[in-house]
Amino acid sequence: MTATIIDGKELSKTKRSELAKEVEQIKAKGLLPKLVVILVGDNPASLSYIRGKQKAAEEIGVGFKLENYPESFSEKELLEVIEHYNNNDEYHGILVQLPLPAHINETAVVEKISPLKDVDGFHPVNIGRMMTGQDTFLPCTPAGIVEMIKSVGVDMVGKNVVVVVGRSNIVGKPVGQLLLNEHATVTYCHSKTKDLSSFTKEADILVAAVGRANFIKGEDIKPGAVVIDVGVNRLESGKLCGDVVFDEAKEVASFLTPVPGGVGPMTITMLAHNTVQSAKQFLV
Ligand code: GUN
Repeated sequence: MTATIIDGKELSKTKRSELAKEVEQIKAKGLLPKLVVILVGDNPASLSYIRGKQKAAEEIGVGFKLENYPESFSEKELLEVIEHYNNNDEYHGILVQLPLPAHINETAVVEKISPLKDVDGFHPVNIGRMMTGQDTFLPCTPAGIVEMIKSVGVDMVGKNVVVVVGRSNIVGKPVGQLLLNEHATVTYCHSKTKDLSSFTKEADILVAAVGRANFIKGEDIKPGAVVIDVGVNRLESGKLCGDVVFDEAKEVASFLTPVPGGVGPMTITMLAHNTVQSAKQFLV
């Protein structure tokens, strides 16, 4: 079997052109959707992610502002900046880029963002709403994964989904929840799971969010499975690669996401989606 590649760039292009039309309609009603991204420090990976977010915002016609503060910025100062944007209705989306410097309490920062402007979908109020299946801001990577699976017409009802070594709050836990909301049967695996491949080999849909290059081999995959590779790992050669051995998975899976060009672009597209949805709340 040779897997069909789920092209996150192509899917993003389609979704972004739909979003651009929505933005036009919102602007026609006198509102300019705007996103502010707050970065403390100058982590190169964060700066690179932020450039991607800015490009997506510009592509669909959403206003974008970067607030970049020095590494020494205090938690109190950061909370004040968030408060300012919570109360500034020219901005509809607020995103604080993670990770934050060690002296800043990430939980306090995430909880400070108004749930109405939490386009990352990280606030406990939005996580709670997601868990109860309500309409809310969904975390971008998990929402992008669901869109990718739906885009190839795979029915998730009753499917055996295994989320591999991914119990982070940003990806692993919420993607399991969203797939459960789609009526899949979900198993979470993690670093303490015994005999991991006995689980992966039973998965109709396998989500790899391990953060370790080439961790999932072809022999770990059930023939015909849908394989979603969330990993972004840089090899010593400088080349990017996922958590899945792509060339092996291609021979076993029915559908497979590439790295780069898979989950990454869709994550950013879902942020653009959330920002547009957020702006709509402010239309009178
Ligand atoms: N750092 C890595 N991924 C993300 C993300 O999706 N949102 C934020 N705010 N920070 C991140």
